Amino acid sequence: MARIIIVDDEKNIRRNLAVFFESLGHHARAAEGGAEAIAALGDEPADLVLTDVRMAEMDGLRLLEEVKRRDPATVVVLMTAFATVENAVAAMKAGAQDYVTKPFTLDEIRRTVDRALELRGLRLENRELRSAVEQAPMLETESAAMRRLLDTARQAAASDATILLTGESGAGKNVLARKIHQLSPRHDYPFVTVNCTTLSEQLLESELFGHMRGSFTGAVKDKPGRLEAAHQGSVFLDEIADLTPALQTKFLRFVQELSFERIGGERTIQVDARIIAATNRGLESEVAAHRFREDLFYRLNVITLRVPPLRERADDVVPLARWLLRAAGLRNRRPSLRFNAEAETALRRYRWPGNIRELRNAVERAAVLCRRDEIAPDDLPDSIFREPGEAAAAAAAGAGQRSPSLEDVEREHIRRVLAETATLEEAADTLGINVTTLWRKRRRYGIE
Ligand SMILES: Nc1ncnc2c1ncn2[C@@H]1O[C@H](COP(=O)(O)OP(=O)(O)OP(=O)(O)O)[C@@H](O)[C@H]1O
Ligand SMILES: [Mg+2]
Repeated sequence: MARIIIVDDEKNIRRNLAVFFESLGHHARAAEGGAEAIAALGDEPADLVLTDVRMAEMDGLRLLEEVKRRDPATVVVLMTAFATVENAVAAMKAGAQDYVTKPFTLDEIRRTVDRALELRGLRLENRELRSAVEQAPMLETESAAMRRLLDTARQAAASDATILLTGESGAGKNVLARKIHQLSPRHDYPFVTVNCTTLSEQLLESELFGHMRGSFTGAVKDKPGRLEAAHQGSVFLDEIADLTPALQTKFLRFVQELSFERIGGERTIQVDARIIAATNRGLESEVAAHRFREDLFYRLNVITLRVPPLRERADDVVPLARWLLRAAGLRNRRPSLRFNAEAETALRRYRWPGNIRELRNAVERAAVLCRRDEIAPDDLPDSIFREPGEAAAAAAAGAGQRSPSLEDVEREHIRRVLAETATLEEAADTLGINVTTLWRKRRRYGIE
């Protein structure tokens, strides 16, 4: 049995499909449009979302993005009346599992859904297997800066003070936030993460503060927000620089008073939660550019911990790589994998712009692809032997242009990786950044 949400603005289609999937033993819910589907997901997660592409209010691709943002494990199957190759490619790239062309027979749709669910099952199994042998992060360090950081983090964990984590993408902010919670007296209570990068301000507002039934289209019942869920525990606000001005104002009040009302609600709710926030952009410059409220910045900036980029802790690269390899070796049932000396030299030399995430991906890849027990430089990604942006710079120089800016190089590189990969997850993995960051960059650069 799977939990399925069917989204179509044609009543007959969604009704009939819901009845059909119920008759197959699934738990099927029908939604009229994107907002209703998102609200339904908020009530109860789904394994699969089957959605029409062309709908009046929010189109299927937008819904797809939002579903994936909430839980990448939910599979999305599109129903389209206009099956052009371009559309199909765009849909797959955005993370759709499959699509069916209207009109379809019930037998066709059943087979497509079965196949999508089967794939999801395989992926989840893989993920569970992974997390079962997932190691704790490596917290030993040869770097003085990192050692100081961990000392301060330990001390700060004991208090209720708000903590702001800064540092480049992939440097380990999420890992540290969780660690701080574990070290804190609140460790038996929830650690709740809210990602502030979202396509819709209203959805994020409702995710944070909750809402009352009927307060907006799709709010079909009262729903507590994440802040409430964090009561007595810690709330981790990831990518805080992405909070919209209106939400910054609303959140400021929460930071000051630890109280708020649900959207459309009158009762004031008090929550006792420790706040940890993270950003990979300099909040000071966001404040200077009037994009981030100064008063909120000062409220958050009580204890600031800067997680150093991997290149500033060069002596940690090899021990970290070995640590990650041990985990990857277990996961892939190859416990005797190790690096040879040349491979370790190559790892140490590289600058790791994607930080630990990039290192982890490189190790993972080697653990899967390497034919022998000894990992050699050949088993590492080519990018490690190329200076970042070298290829793009060479191309630009060849065309007799000025040297490209860092942004040009990044834009070009992201564009290329997106073209070469099938899903956003895969692209993000290759780039060594998380999916949310990729989304933001894609939006910023206007890459479709
Ligand atoms: N100390 C560590 N030991 C082992 N793995 C680590 C460590 N720190 C980070 N990692 C791994 O590196 C990856 C990136 O870490 P994390 O998600 O915490 O980075 P981040 O700073 O939050 O990045 P972003 O700004 O992109 O969100 C994750 O896969 C994480 O498991
Ligand atoms: Mg993060």
